Amino acid sequence: MPSHIIKNPEMLEKIKRNVLEERKSIGIDIKEKIMVCMGGGCIASGSQKVKETFEKLIVEKGLNDDVVVCGTGCLGPCVKGPVVLMKSDNTFYQKVTPEDCAKIISSHVMKGKVVEKLTWKKDATQAPIHKLQDIEFFRRQKKIVLRNCGEIDPLSIDEYIGNDGYFALAKVLTTISDGGINLSKLQSFPIPGSDFKYSFHADMEFDEIEQFNDVIKKIKPITEHLKIYGVYKRGGLPNPSKGGAYVS
Ligand code: FES
Repeated sequence: MPSHIIKNPEMLEKIKRNVLEERKSIGIDIKEKIMVCMGGGCIASGSQKVKETFEKLIVEKGLNDDVVVCGTGCLGPCVKGPVVLMKSDNTFYQKVTPEDCAKIISSHVMKGKVVEKLTWKKDATQAPIHKLQDIEFFRRQKKIVLRNCGEIDPLSIDEYIGNDGYFALAKVLTTISDGGINLSKLQSFPIPGSDFKYSFHADMEFDEIEQFNDVIKKIKPITEHLKIYGVYKRGGLPNPSKGGAYVS
């Protein structure tokens, strides 16, 4: 997994571009991306072994350049686990065992033929439904917090960046730095009662109060929440207009 120290918004843009290029190549340069659900329910029903078996088979068959295997967060129908999503055509497989992996590789990946015994079935007729978007269970849902589930590998920061992760923070920080404000401290805290959301608390130092006011005016429209806890004079400095502020 690549690791980066992100020093500027251009680096974020570059990572996003690379991720989008890779996504575009699925089904073209990269033949297949196999997303194995690694949520709690699927792990309990054996998805770790399924993922390892796919990885092993791909090496054995010499498909490393064409096929990638990724974990994903809970896709929803945990009772059907382990579940697997084939990204090239969005085929959804359920109750996949390690023994089924060879069939999925030889049939779906190598011949483009869906393994119907592992697909979702229509309640009334038991007719197979191949694609995730055609399954009633998914059609009736609109995922908000978990909208990237099945789209990105939760263990890859790059994939998060590919879905605009950190861009809002970068925009605010760039505005602060372009305004000549020194950010002497930045902390993040979970927002109580709101899963997966964080607020950022910042200590800012500036030479003139006008600089601070100007930056606040610019970041206000691009933040959901902005609170100034206090503005103070920086002690012991010759210029009495130098100051600091604590903002979240
Ligand atoms: S844990 Fe896999 S679908 Fe929920």
